Amino acid sequence: MTTTNTDPAVADLLAFLKFPSVSTDPARAGDVRDCAGWVANKLRAIGLLAEVHDTAGHPVVLGRSTPHRADLPTVLIYGHYDVQPADPLDLWHTPPFEPRIENGVVFARGATDNKGQILAHIRGVEAALLGTSANGFPELPVNVIFLIEGEEEIGSPNLEPFLREHREELQCDVIAISDTTMVGTAIPTFTYCLRGLTALEVHVTGPAMDLHSGIFGGAVANPATALARLLASLHDADGHVAVAGFYDAVQPLADWEREAWKALPLNDEHALLALTGASATFGEAGFTSIERFSARPTAEINGFASGYQGEGSKTIIPAKASAKLTFRLVPDQDPAKIQALVTEHLFTHCPPGVKLDVVPGHSGRPYACDPHSAFGQAAQRALRHTFPGKEPALIREGGSIPIVTTFREVLGVETLLLGLALPDCRAHSPNENFPLANYFAGIRLNQVLLREIGATKR
Ligand code: BES
Ligand code: ZN
Repeated sequence: MTTTNTDPAVADLLAFLKFPSVSTDPARAGDVRDCAGWVANKLRAIGLLAEVHDTAGHPVVLGRSTPHRADLPTVLIYGHYDVQPADPLDLWHTPPFEPRIENGVVFARGATDNKGQILAHIRGVEAALLGTSANGFPELPVNVIFLIEGEEEIGSPNLEPFLREHREELQCDVIAISDTTMVGTAIPTFTYCLRGLTALEVHVTGPAMDLHSGIFGGAVANPATALARLLASLHDADGHVAVAGFYDAVQPLADWEREAWKALPLNDEHALLALTGASATFGEAGFTSIERFSARPTAEINGFASGYQGEGSKTIIPAKASAKLTFRLVPDQDPAKIQALVTEHLFTHCPPGVKLDVVPGHSGRPYACDPHSAFGQAAQRALRHTFPGKEPALIREGGSIPIVTTFREVLGVETLLLGLALPDCRAHSPNENFPLANYFAGIRLNQVLLREIGATKR
């Protein structure tokens, strides 16, 4: 059932979701900029100072509460207003940038990742501001800085220089981000670890042009076969990554982690199969599915191209083959080292008769923090308050937000990851969605989070 919802918080979300702010698509640069303008106006409308800052790429929106109170802790809230491309469009039930509410769930590109979640932060701060004035308190319990960027989905290429340039005005005590998952509906979740990643492309070339496979087949190497063999060499028969040295820096899982994760919903293999549509679980021997997708490093083929892709058959030996790879990394793996090890592996294992090129892509470091730090405990109190009667799940997240490690390095502070996304949110996929219940819970959570951080000793 589709409903019209007249709640201003929902109207705001729908307006935000209408911008096709796809950062990777140069044709959308104007929409990305318009979206940044909308975010800045939103921050101003709730009473913050806000500015759109140009970068070498898409703009960054900065907002701050005013006046700054030196006696209060400062929390920096980070999020992104850019989104992934909506393709393949034909798999969407309704257009990705015409948000639709069905049975209390909003469907649109960016609904979860990250517009719904960052707007929950903004509205949470607004609620705190309104609450404080209604209660007669002069100000928020904390100073708030918003840093909302437009290039997260392309690896934040311009954010580190921006952080260094604006280091002084971004000084804070802790960072809060809602851009990760909850382990299930209404289960409060605190993420203390994110995987990193490193990306590369592999290009294999053979003959100077596509060849007739009857005239030449068998006498020259086939680049598609060579690439398939090369990629197959990345894993052994037990699902371990077979690149020499790949696991050298990997920290073993603690007993408490393996024990605690046994109680999580996705420990149930059926739930994982239902969610993914896969026919069986698969992965590294000796680890559960949760451990495999959140706490172990992986090698993935994200794209593979070679030869004839049209209808019917075409008897050729393709001139070239290529693949896009990413490696998800865990503490304490170093993306640059892994790039080097993988590149060496590829050159050592490349079958004869073809030429190999490896083109490095973007990288991001993994992140781990102490869930029991003072601010970590404050965050967990806010989670308990928002979801009464439920103990927060402490998890590692399989996805990556590489800027979090850069925050630690440049600003010297830790990040609280309080995600609101559900495992079936379809982030990066067709029919991305976000339940309004999560949006409203997020607004309450963020309001309480400010109070709990305000009450925490620095
Ligand atoms: N919100 C995600 C991070 C994430 C992914 C959290 C999965 C929870 C589960 C973020 O927008 C994202 O997609 N990050 C990219 C990394 C980036 C460098 C392209 C990712 O993880 O692939
Ligand atoms: Zn994303």
